[in-house]
Amino acid sequence: MAKKYQFDVLIIGSGAAGLMSAVQLSSSTSIAVIAKDKILEGSSYYAQGGISAVLDPEDNFDSHIEDTVNTGFNLGNEKSIRYMVEQAPQAIKDLESTGVQFSHINNSYDLTTEGGHSSKRVAHVADKTGQSIQVNLLAKVRQKNNIELFEEYVAVDLVVKDKNCYGAYVFDKNSKEVVTFSSNKTILATGGASKSYLYTSNPDTSTGDGIAMAYRAGCEISNMEFTQFHPTCLFHPHAKSFLISETLRGEGAKLLLPDGQEFMHKYDDRLELAPRDIVARAIDNEMKVNGYDCVYLDFSFKDKEWIKSRFPTITQRCKELGIDISKEALPVVPAAHYTCGGVNTNIDAQSSINNLYAVGEVAHTGVHGANRMASNSLLECVVFAKSCANHINSSEFENSQTKIEKWDDSRVAPSKEKVVIAHLWHEIRLIMWNFVGIVRSNNRLNSAYLKIQQINKEVDEYYRIYTVTEDLIELRNLAQTSKIIVESALSRKESRGLHYNQDYPNKMSKIQNTVMTKS
Ligand code: FAD
Ligand code: SIN
Repeated sequence: MAKKYQFDVLIIGSGAAGLMSAVQLSSSTSIAVIAKDKILEGSSYYAQGGISAVLDPEDNFDSHIEDTVNTGFNLGNEKSIRYMVEQAPQAIKDLESTGVQFSHINNSYDLTTEGGHSSKRVAHVADKTGQSIQVNLLAKVRQKNNIELFEEYVAVDLVVKDKNCYGAYVFDKNSKEVVTFSSNKTILATGGASKSYLYTSNPDTSTGDGIAMAYRAGCEISNMEFTQFHPTCLFHPHAKSFLISETLRGEGAKLLLPDGQEFMHKYDDRLELAPRDIVARAIDNEMKVNGYDCVYLDFSFKDKEWIKSRFPTITQRCKELGIDISKEALPVVPAAHYTCGGVNTNIDAQSSINNLYAVGEVAHTGVHGANRMASNSLLECVVFAKSCANHINSSEFENSQTKIEKWDDSRVAPSKEKVVIAHLWHEIRLIMWNFVGIVRSNNRLNSAYLKIQQINKEVDEYYRIYTVTEDLIELRNLAQTSKIIVESALSRKESRGLHYNQDYPNKMSKIQNTVMTKS
């Protein structure tokens, strides 16, 4: 008999958004945090650059707001942006109170900069900011006896009736059963969908599960056409998804062509510190026009000991791969990095379904607009996790235990054709990379749409007749999320920020969000 769990709050995801939500919820609330992999695995752990906040007396909120609005090409929601920016210094304190020790110089934060920021406002823990945040949040969570952690539990679907969420069906990877979690409030904190693309900086967890689950449940999903490509992932056959932080460019690193020539001056006056969409497109263009496999990032003019202490993770990983960052330029290429769109939420992280919240990269709070400014994502996780928790802490709970029916697997059988899953998974990621990438066209988008629609049909049929596995759950989500990305891209008849369509090279004067709901 499959297990039935009952909690006041179910949090799906244990990244910075999920763990911070758990920490901020009242100690009298029973909480389950589920993660489909190990608890620390997820994008948050790998964040290098830092978290943005106005901490320098020379800086101010209006400037952080203006930079965020401009980097997002005016598509961002100014109310949400102001809220996030004004809460940022407190977010830093909240992290410090869990034990995070940001790097300091002479008793002040060692603030750095990245693309789009007009002041130094990126606080960091050397180049392992995410790791420090995750380890400290997890330690805090473990101190609380009202929080139970469920590792290797994959949410399959939300339980939603009459626009109310009552919990989720969850696949237990060890027992291979689908169990039920019934909850008064459910928080989606499942991260982004960058695994829809062949090349990504993200870990394997970023398969858009929360976005697909919310879509199937009837939530509004916004602005999914805005996939951010990080300009500099290490180009090396053995370096799966290894990011070279933008903070290297913040500290002066130069982008070079294979012959050693600089090229960013051809694209933007801000050179290497132009916003990410511009730098990624510039690199993509140089690679396509000249047939290069990669470009190079040179930092070798910096002092060796300083590099080692400021960027220990990058120095070490490069060393393992036979590259001495203090002596040679690093081969780099753009890769899918961040999902700007997601489940539509308000400032309290409420979705369009009652008792369902979304926090972190899965959410569309409106702060990123058409392009996320560097280091605003961890900030969004921490700020909106707190506002979500505050909202839940002040809400009434009703008993939802009786509302979830048992998972029905009476009409499915184990699959004998797992090759289909592996094939379709690869096909989606290839289509998305080649047809829905950094530079788009109507022709390629239309072609992608037909292909992804056909794949969705095949996956739905497969899902109908075979027993669920983690791979099948993820494939179904990846297929649906990719379809939403393509539909959103087709519906935007302009180029704005991260969405660049050669057939509509200009911005429209009317500024509007893309909203998708299941028909
Ligand atoms: P994640 O940290 O990705 O966590 C998602 C969680 O959801 C995981 O626990 C996963 O197991 C779980 N999950 C997913 N699906 C399911 C399911 N179906 N069932 C159960 N659990 C599920 N941003 C910055 O602001 N500054 C940076 O310096 C920075 N550097 C980055 C470097 C890298 C390499 C990457 C990949 C991203 C970086 N970002 C950075 C972006 C930022 O790290 C992420 O946007 C942010 O950490 C997302 O946090 P999250 O909690 O929403 O999701
Ligand atoms: C980086 O360190 O380059 C990543 C920063 C971010 O994604 O915000």
